[in-house]
Amino acid sequence: MDYCYHKVHESLIYTWFSTIASVLQFKKILSCDLMKAIINYLAGLAGPSGYGSKSTADQVTQHSSSSSSHLTAIITGATSGIGAETARVLAKRGVRIIIPARNLKKAALVKENIIKETPEAEITLLEIDLSSFASVKRFCTEFLSLGLPLHILINNAGKFSQKLEFSEDKIEMTFATNYLGHFLLTEMLLEKMVETAAETGIEGRIVNVSSVIHNWVKRNNFSFYHMLNPNNYNGTRAYSQSKLANILHAKELARQLKERKANVTINAVHPGIVKTGIIRDHKGIITESLYFVASKLLKSTSQGAATTCYVALSQQTEGMSGKYFSDCNESHSSSLANDEAEAHKLWKLTRSLIRRRLQQPVA
Ligand SMILES: NC(=O)c1ccc[n+]([C@@H]2O[C@H](COP(=O)([O-])OP(=O)(O)OC[C@H]3O[C@@H](n4cnc5c(N)ncnc54)[C@H](OP(=O)(O)O)[C@@H]3O)[C@@H](O)[C@H]2O)c1
Repeated sequence: MDYCYHKVHESLIYTWFSTIASVLQFKKILSCDLMKAIINYLAGLAGPSGYGSKSTADQVTQHSSSSSSHLTAIITGATSGIGAETARVLAKRGVRIIIPARNLKKAALVKENIIKETPEAEITLLEIDLSSFASVKRFCTEFLSLGLPLHILINNAGKFSQKLEFSEDKIEMTFATNYLGHFLLTEMLLEKMVETAAETGIEGRIVNVSSVIHNWVKRNNFSFYHMLNPNNYNGTRAYSQSKLANILHAKELARQLKERKANVTINAVHPGIVKTGIIRDHKGIITESLYFVASKLLKSTSQGAATTCYVALSQQTEGMSGKYFSDCNESHSSSLANDEAEAHKLWKLTRSLIRRRLQQPVA
């Protein structure tokens, strides 16, 4: 038990420091700049975009209402935390929202809250379990049968599991949920997005919600087959690997979309550290105390949803693809996350795994 807590604390502390280090672009800037960046982060001073760590999702989208009505967005993981706030704010800006959820009762409550604030909001709830290829496929078939356009796809759902668990496809649960499910979802919806963008002339946008903790992954810890079936499971490692995979997915797909001149972009974001359900498995006095001590570094949920909403709706991010954003500004991801060969290799391995599995009937 102590060991588990130790591991969780280690990862939380790492994440907090990594957040600061990443914001500071720690390895690249001089100490005077470093000090400036620390102050910027803590004070929430604006970066080049005009927004910073303390900007909220409402603030970064306040000029988007006229351009965003008539848009349709799918937001995964919108039954709680950052995803629910993203859905609330996008709906407020006139975006039609599709919430894929494994718990439709929770999704109905989110819908009810959004409608209270925005009575004209259009929200559709559909079932999905991102850890299951069959369920993702069912969701896509159901969504596509509605005949709706698709402008925005926000791959936000996430899981952090302390214990080794396997999905119904017999794949480690964190990797299956955070990465593989979103990869398949994106692949199955991509042609609809390309088609919508061509018909409407409006750029399609995909946002992969990653994490600064992707920095933690070292090259020798990033093996596709070990991620599918780890022999020495560590929850923090599995989570950070899945978040690195989210960035590599964005990089490779951005390259492919550019190559085919599709009017669809894909970027990855780090939302910031927010106390949400993602640590629901890790409740305890020490975790709570750490969050209390670090509370000055944490974001509110609305600040946590700001970078996603900024990348999804802002005119400033038009044409930007294959980038990594943090605190509503373009930021630096790790050298491994920037490795194009690694991104291409991961994409090929993932695609062939999914093809093989989908040809097999799911038990
Ligand atoms: N909070 C942070 O500090 C932080 C930091 C960096 C990155 N992130 C990333 O931000 C994203 C949002 O996380 P959050 O903090 O808002 O966490 P959260 O409150 O726990 O929300 C996670 C969402 O994912 C959904 N989900 C989990 N497994 C799923 C599955 N198999 N199928 C469908 N939906 C599933 C959950 O649905 P249920 O309601 O059914 O559980 C929930 O809606 C995640 O990708 C996370 O990795 C968060």
